[in-house]
Amino acid sequence: MLSKTTLAYSTILATLVTLPSFIIAQCATPSPAERYYYSLASANSKLYMFGGSLGDAEYEVWYLDLANNFDTSCPPWNKATTLLTSSSVSTSPHLFGVAFNPNNKDSIYVQGGDAIKSTMQQPIVYSTNQNNYTQPTASVGTPISARSQMTATVDSTNNKVWIVGGRDPFPFGQDGVIKTHNDIYSYQFNDNVASITMDKVSINSPYGPPPARFGHSTTLVNNRLFTIGGYIGVNETTEMIIDFASASVYDISSNSAISMETTGDIPNARIGYSAVASQDGHSIIVFGGIMGDSLGSVTNDVLVLDTCTLTWNKQYINGHSNGRATHQAYMHGKYMITAMGISGHVGKKPISSDDVAILDTESWTWVTSIPSGYSPSGVSTSPSCSFDFPPLPAEARVAGNAPKSYDISVITNPNAHHEALTTPEKGGIGVAVPLFVIACLVGAFFWYRRRQRNKSRQLNPRWMPGALSSNSMTAGSSQPGAGTSPKNDYPLFTYNNNTDGNNGQNPGAGTTANQGGLRTYTATDHDQWERQLIQDNERSIANDDKPMARHEDVWSRMRGLHAPGDEEQRH
Ligand SMILES: *[C@@H]1O[C@H](CO)[C@@H](O)[C@H](O)[C@H]1NC(C)=O
Ligand SMILES: *[C@@H]1O[C@H](CO)[C@@H](O)[C@H](O)[C@H]1NC(C)=O
Repeated sequence: MLSKTTLAYSTILATLVTLPSFIIAQCATPSPAERYYYSLASANSKLYMFGGSLGDAEYEVWYLDLANNFDTSCPPWNKATTLLTSSSVSTSPHLFGVAFNPNNKDSIYVQGGDAIKSTMQQPIVYSTNQNNYTQPTASVGTPISARSQMTATVDSTNNKVWIVGGRDPFPFGQDGVIKTHNDIYSYQFNDNVASITMDKVSINSPYGPPPARFGHSTTLVNNRLFTIGGYIGVNETTEMIIDFASASVYDISSNSAISMETTGDIPNARIGYSAVASQDGHSIIVFGGIMGDSLGSVTNDVLVLDTCTLTWNKQYINGHSNGRATHQAYMHGKYMITAMGISGHVGKKPISSDDVAILDTESWTWVTSIPSGYSPSGVSTSPSCSFDFPPLPAEARVAGNAPKSYDISVITNPNAHHEALTTPEKGGIGVAVPLFVIACLVGAFFWYRRRQRNKSRQLNPRWMPGALSSNSMTAGSSQPGAGTSPKNDYPLFTYNNNTDGNNGQNPGAGTTANQGGLRTYTATDHDQWERQLIQDNERSIANDDKPMARHEDVWSRMRGLHAPGDEEQRH
């Protein structure tokens, strides 16, 4: 966790650097530019983008038409002709707000965050048929105070929209006094979508109130809201990034909330990322963001939080995507669509990222198009597992048993590693020690890999300096072994190329021949082997006890090659 002076505007206010993009230049369709901290909502197979521009005069509504051919080289952007003079509500540029479609019809609610006009700071209805705004006719209940960097989550099961947290708005385009909210509001809609009932939820949180966050993400999974990341306010001028080592869970049906430690490969803190519910019905997909380190680099990480156990995994992705931050994402069936935001900084100046990217979350591949006629299915309603909400203490506690500086109500995660070590049926200490060693090795590997990836934004570390080619830059899509000059490669080990029981998988096409059956396995071979491993069908059904044929093959090729007296350390 890090303490920082307000990043919110400093990351985008500096004059923007717009790098020329040959891809966009070839596309004649007009598209929006320089949008950050905008909000997304869909209606009638169109994905609408509201706000997010710092330009005082630019607050048109744009949409991506998801019904037609969708190719990222020329995304189907359309500018909705927003005739603001014909609207009964006075609108204005706005940032850090929310947009949501409560009943999946023609009306999208927009609630601006930091805005020039305060009318934007209460929910107003945008008609996707008429392209204008109206004020909801009846607004009863407990009105919500104006706020920014909150979240709005549509809950069609309960016919509600949940508004979580946020901070008081700053003057548009400026930093301001940080005043945060730890409340949850529900917006209830009737058949007449222009009628809205707001209520502040009175939450049962026996370990203490949830932290007052802003700039976080809240994702609905199986009737629970999972809130992660964002900031807390330290004082009126300083905010602190909340790391990913805990998640706040609000159980809608019991109206109870807890914060619990996460486990697994816990990612470093980041802000301005996107989070969406996976189609599997139990995971959250986190993409991009600005790393909370001193560099503030923009990442292209795809992280998966399994809500069943609150376990983090960094997802291996095929294909390449630029880093992206201050964006949003939207699930169109299995396709995660994201657009706009920033891709990095030149010095302190952010680089706007005006393109659209699509991640296939089944094959975990960045793709350039969605097949025409694709009909998206929703999130699974019968997920393979769900979060085990812990029994709550009858009496309120002062804090959780694993408090964090940003949230003292955090409790330990029963699925965390230390539990596995003490489970008697796993064989006690005899198993626990190797498990611990493996855990350390796995941890070290992830640490190493993360470090290497951080270092390798431009240079794949497997290649020696000077080896860069357009092939080797396109991670996952090329055959790096084929075209790489051997002088830039390096050997890892030798192996026997004539092994019995070889199942036909050649460890590497670019393998250098030596005398007899001996061959040198090189870094290039290994890179290719890893890529094939990711795509191996066996991998999806693999269980931890059974080695894959791919791994057996490596062992059989190495067999007999070790130095005399060496025992093969394998059972
Ligand atoms: C919205 O726009 C339509 C067509 O432009 C117009 O007929 C209608 O009166 C507008 N509604 C409001 C509330 O301004
Ligand atoms: C706010 O907190 C920061 C960090 O702890 C500190 O440097 C700063 O002086 C504080 N500002 C005020 C107004 O208290």
